[in-house]
Amino acid sequence: MKIAVAEGDGIGKEVVPPCIDVLELLLEDVEFITVEIGYAKWMREGLPITEEDIELIKQADCMLAGAVTSVPGHSVVVRLRKAFDLFANLRPFTSYALTPYGLDLIMIRENLEGLYFGKEELSPDRAVTERVITRSNTERLATFASALEGVEMVTIVHKANVLKSDVLFRDVCARVLQKHGVRYNEMYVDAAAYNLIKHPDKFSCILTSNLFGDILSDEAAALVGSLGLCPSANIGPDFAVFEPIHGSAPDLAGTGRANPIGAILSAKMLLEWSGQYDKAALIDASVRQTLKNGIMTPDLGGKSSTADVAHEIVRIIEG
Ligand code: NAI
Ligand code: MG
Repeated sequence: MKIAVAEGDGIGKEVVPPCIDVLELLLEDVEFITVEIGYAKWMREGLPITEEDIELIKQADCMLAGAVTSVPGHSVVVRLRKAFDLFANLRPFTSYALTPYGLDLIMIRENLEGLYFGKEELSPDRAVTERVITRSNTERLATFASALEGVEMVTIVHKANVLKSDVLFRDVCARVLQKHGVRYNEMYVDAAAYNLIKHPDKFSCILTSNLFGDILSDEAAALVGSLGLCPSANIGPDFAVFEPIHGSAPDLAGTGRANPIGAILSAKMLLEWSGQYDKAALIDASVRQTLKNGIMTPDLGGKSSTADVAHEIVRIIEG
């Protein structure tokens, strides 16, 4: 298996290397293709990601990424999503009993449309951002949601009472889920933000558009205890990019306080995507045991460093 690896900026450089250790331990036949993307590259070369980088990434089966610091006028994340047609952003949230909220939720966030991809205009007195939702993209997103295992109920989150684009999103999602015999309900995004905190146990899977998914993800991350715990997968028809949901956290970079678990669980999602469920389960069990052992970074109230947590996870996998 060939995996493109981009550490990115800030704490990306600290949380990605432990993932390589874990994957090297678990996979007999793996080749890592290192790609440099992000802010530091932009400072040096004027672009945070180049056409050559995309070609290099294409040589791999999938990609593991840290976070990149935003560069004015360029979005590396958007570029990757477009280049590999990564239409679904899958984000599981599990509370591991670290908080009083019993959250066990999968968020499916649309990844290629909505407000993050619309045409924009900015002048001193007026600004416009177009919000486009298409039937074809929504259909494949909802079809992807229908195929997920272990989902009891899909909640379609939208704002169709005011946004026409969400009338289409809601109706297409509902039709596809119904066709596949998946139980679903629907909720306005403001009610969903409220209910996530008030009744977190009511949610099994949220299916939503790009901006709403971005915001609700950070809320769900707070409910499970930390942004640093949460992994994600950006899934396309034949390629996927795995990355923790957090950013480059410049406030933490170089302090040894970054939680590596979100990144390591992203490597677990990579193994699941490639059908290696037994190895993925080893990572999951080891993360759970590490947390049970109280080896945690300060974002979870612990005193351990990034390296302590990573070493404990590796030690448990090694058995
Ligand atoms: P952030 O996720 O980097 O940080 C938000 C807060 O969460 C900070 O207080 C940070 O210390 C904490 N945090 C994040 N990851 C953590 C971890 N692993 N362990 C412990 N605490 C953690 O978001 P922020 O500050 O809004 O963005 C920083 C930079 O990252 C910006 O340039 C932003 O554009 C970029 N970013 C990149 C993303 C990507 O490449 N996928 C995603 C989100 C932000
Ligand atoms: Mg975000």
